[in-house]
Amino acid sequence: MKTEIERLKAERRAVILAHNYCRGEVQDIADFTGDSLELARRATTVDAEVIVFCGVYFMAETAAILNPGKTVLIPDPSAGCPMADMITGEQLRELKAKHPGAKAVCYVNSTAEVKAECDICVTSGNAERVLAQFPPEQEIVFVPDQHLGAHVMGLLGRRYVLWPGYCPTHAALTAKSIADARAAHPGAPVLVHPECAKDVRDAADERLSTGGMCRYARESDAKEIVVGTEVGILHRLRAENPGKSFFPVNDRLVCPNMKKTTLEGVAEALREMRHRVEVPEAVAVRARRAIEAMLAVK
Ligand code: 13P
Ligand code: SF4
Repeated sequence: MKTEIERLKAERRAVILAHNYCRGEVQDIADFTGDSLELARRATTVDAEVIVFCGVYFMAETAAILNPGKTVLIPDPSAGCPMADMITGEQLRELKAKHPGAKAVCYVNSTAEVKAECDICVTSGNAERVLAQFPPEQEIVFVPDQHLGAHVMGLLGRRYVLWPGYCPTHAALTAKSIADARAAHPGAPVLVHPECAKDVRDAADERLSTGGMCRYARESDAKEIVVGTEVGILHRLRAENPGKSFFPVNDRLVCPNMKKTTLEGVAEALREMRHRVEVPEAVAVRARRAIEAMLAVK
């Protein structure tokens, strides 16, 4: 299968981008694996005609919005993100109408239609930096992740209007599961994703994007690290840090949509040149502004 993918990749002049939560075998055939921000940045510098995006739909959509001249394929278009679907463009328009002076900020885990309604987007890797750019008195509506929004409010000491969206996968983590993991691995730092609820974030040592977790693991002297996010990241953490041990807080923390991309699916996407991710130009133009505003923040 790997040889077949390599052959098709050369024939189609394609690159394969994969998120850190993908199946290990998919990460292994990818040209680049990263978090949402790294993938969005990487999508702007791709030297190929075709991008096969292994991850969930909004990520492939972001790559398509940033590359109007390229073909972006997603092996399984049903790989959605339930959090991204927790707010529609219409609901955001209604929210904005209630807060006429506010800036609208969306987590990148959102649909193109929602991004099109926003002034700027953020990822978990840059949310603090992006939001710090607004003056403290600026009213902000933040959608859809209440937890990432609340996390940044805490870091910056500000108040935002939050939408009650959340990640169903990270919702499975509890403060008790963090305490149990600490008891099982005394002294090991505990990393969680900012999509976790406040009591879980407070119980951890670090709140990091998946890319931030990879950096932490590389730079830390700790030989054992407890990881509170989707278990797909363990593949990369273990491959990049052979002398260190990584323990999931909960080995049932699986995002089913991230697992929909298989090697067979990648091969078929390249063979059949499907499924094409297409965003209507009128939406793409406005969504691109919000994404590019984010990428301009260094
Ligand atoms: P990262 O940007 O940290 O990789 O997170 C993406 C995501 O969907 C987390 O659930
Ligand atoms: Fe969406 Fe959660 Fe899956 Fe990330 S882990 S893609 S936020 S459902």
